[in-house]
Amino acid sequence: MEFNSLVIHGGVDGDKNTGAVTIPIYQTSTYAQEAVGKHRGYEYSRTGNPTREAVEKLIADLEKGHRGFAFSSGMAAISSVLMLFQAGDHIIFSDDVYGGTFRVVDKVFKNFNIEYDFVDTSDIKNIRNHIKENTKAVYIETPTNPLMKLTDIEEVSKITKENNLLLIVDNTFMTPYLQRPIELGADIVLHSATKYLGGHSDLIAGLVVVNNEVLGERMHFIQNSVGAILGPFDSWLLIKGIKTLAVRMERHCENAEKIVKWLGQQEWVGKIYYPGIGIQMKKQMKRYGGMISFEVNDEKYMQKLLDNLKVITLAESLGGIESLICVPSKMTHASVPPEIRVKLGITDTLIRLSVGIEDVEDIIRDLDIA
Ligand SMILES: Cc1ncc(COP(=O)(O)O)c(C=O)c1O
Repeated sequence: MEFNSLVIHGGVDGDKNTGAVTIPIYQTSTYAQEAVGKHRGYEYSRTGNPTREAVEKLIADLEKGHRGFAFSSGMAAISSVLMLFQAGDHIIFSDDVYGGTFRVVDKVFKNFNIEYDFVDTSDIKNIRNHIKENTKAVYIETPTNPLMKLTDIEEVSKITKENNLLLIVDNTFMTPYLQRPIELGADIVLHSATKYLGGHSDLIAGLVVVNNEVLGERMHFIQNSVGAILGPFDSWLLIKGIKTLAVRMERHCENAEKIVKWLGQQEWVGKIYYPGIGIQMKKQMKRYGGMISFEVNDEKYMQKLLDNLKVITLAESLGGIESLICVPSKMTHASVPPEIRVKLGITDTLIRLSVGIEDVEDIIRDLDIA
């Protein structure tokens, strides 16, 4: 099936028992057993739930992976993946990953003696130079949040394969509609499904897809043992969101491309960060997505802009149908220490815009008037 059909018919298509065209919400914690250990595949909803399983199968289909897992947030998904490792293991991360990813590594997993380096993975040399005897994985975001740095997934996967490391990719910004890391050699793909996959700013969820059975068993063991699962109602809501992913992503991209062009003509705008300008990665991305970051030339313009917007909402998060704007240094990336933010280029005058699917003229007019 092609992608536009797969988002609608992938995973579990409707309910075979009743003919309902949508999967039911199995709002249950447990399942009757005919005799001890004799059941119909479900024992307890932390271990398995049919509605959650439907979204797990759907994301595995979309990412072309072996098995999917749904978690209660993107951070729960990331933390569960990091639980695959042991004290003394070393992981190489992209340096400008989402602030919460940095925080959980630097403030939580550090306490369990997971070793790490944050490096600029857009330059493959930095990955090679940081591999140590105890290195077990490379974890990348491409494009990164918020500076849109791109990493060549296929090239990194050659290094990880050569060195017997896992390659983990946070595919939140792109979604499987625009980029499919497993096809490019990644072992694990993860998402904050709160963003484009859910798509309507109405749920918090995380998804993980692995590329083989062994990782699938290990991931399910962690999901069941730790228990950060997605509930049945949110699983259903996420499926509903994913069904329109393909059409939404096209519109996000189209709007963003027009806004980037317009921003480039404004004298109050400094450097623009968008994966479609500068060095591009056409071979791994279908289009460039709906996220734009840009510098405002003067802090006084920034306050004016944020105070006067009417269509675009000042808020954390991204990937919803409505346009959202934020100041990463003070919001999404406030948990990154100031000296690291400065080094990365996350200045106090950097703005991040999550372009929605409104009429683009309204978004541009809003920015212009503000
Ligand atoms: C790229 C990326 N990964 C992971 C997360 C964490 O996801 P969640 O907020 O669903 O826990 C975010 C949140 O903004 C993100 O932007």
